Amino acid sequence: MIQIAVMGLGTVGTGVVKVVAENARQIEHKLGEALQVKTILVRRFKDGPYRQLMTDDFQKIEEDDAIRVVVETIGGVGAAYEYTKRALLAGKHVVTANKQLVAERGCELLELAKKKNVSYLFEASVGGGIPVLHPLTQCMAANRIDEIYGILNGTTNYILTRMVRTGAFFSDALREAQAKGYAEADPTADVEGIDAGRKTCILADLAFGHQVDPAAVPMEGISKLSLRDVKIAQRAGYRVKLLGRAVRLPGGGRTAYVAPHLIAEENPMANVEDVFNAVMIRGNATGDVMFYGRGAGELPTASACVADVMECLQASPRREEIGWSAESDGFENPLELHTRYYFRIEGSLTDAAMAFGQVEVLSEDGETAFLTDRISGEDARAQSRFLNVLSCIRVLA
Ligand code: HSE
Repeated sequence: MIQIAVMGLGTVGTGVVKVVAENARQIEHKLGEALQVKTILVRRFKDGPYRQLMTDDFQKIEEDDAIRVVVETIGGVGAAYEYTKRALLAGKHVVTANKQLVAERGCELLELAKKKNVSYLFEASVGGGIPVLHPLTQCMAANRIDEIYGILNGTTNYILTRMVRTGAFFSDALREAQAKGYAEADPTADVEGIDAGRKTCILADLAFGHQVDPAAVPMEGISKLSLRDVKIAQRAGYRVKLLGRAVRLPGGGRTAYVAPHLIAEENPMANVEDVFNAVMIRGNATGDVMFYGRGAGELPTASACVADVMECLQASPRREEIGWSAESDGFENPLELHTRYYFRIEGSLTDAAMAFGQVEVLSEDGETAFLTDRISGEDARAQSRFLNVLSCIRVLA
């Protein structure tokens, strides 16, 4: 019998305990031994089926030699960081869905895991139930990765879908996402693009091999998005989606950011709806490869955690080298990127043309909505400075 501990009994922690119990036979068949959750670390004891397994004392896990893997689903960087370090120092493998911790401290924790000859795995931290980090670091290992972009937050994609499809109010759609267990404890992280930003950093760290500091990555969410722009875009054959992007620049630098984008409806990314996430990875040998699935929720995220637990136990003594350099040099401002921009201005087509030259008009009714040619973010700013800009959204192009 292989014993593990789970730290935190929120949506993901509960899912991990359920998957281990419900899929016990398949897991045992693959591991050659039964897997059992021995201890669950909680802040407050709760009645229910797992009451006997609960402790509020981390030391019980740290000092229990029978526990070989610890699943951290506490979230944040406070207790989660301290307990992860102590578990690794105690020679236990650690698996997590905690994107904030991986984005901010992943490099250091991977180093520590390496020193202790154990694994630190975090497939569930990006894309929930979608396998994306393993394909990126293993199956696409022979590529130079030039770009990654994706819908990386289930909550905001769910909210956008509900607002567009049924005209739901933002606050009602958010409440629904919370009730379904998609949203973060503080949903500001979802709505303002911070959660997608952390996931973008992890993808960029692994793809480019250098630490991307979340504090350096501009993150814009959907709270300022106007339904009017979404509808104008839709009539013109585009969908508006919140994307995280990490791009290798022509000069060798790298950049990353999160922002809403117009996506042409022919792009499969445009039709990713509800809680689904999708990630496109462009390798110089593979071309575009796309991953799609449920990006949040109890069982999909738990599925990725439990698969990582199994991998820790099967990889002997630890999972092949993954990691990145702590050096963050080479990170550039995303305003360097050239792309098309959507503008809605209070003004006429003449005003738009005076600022940008030739533009593609999407609507004209007192206000003018139009698309520019490909320009840098700096130029988009400079050229629009005399316009009365109501909205400005990047176009994925
Ligand atoms: N709050 C996150 C989301 C959970 O909505 O995608 C999964 O990371």
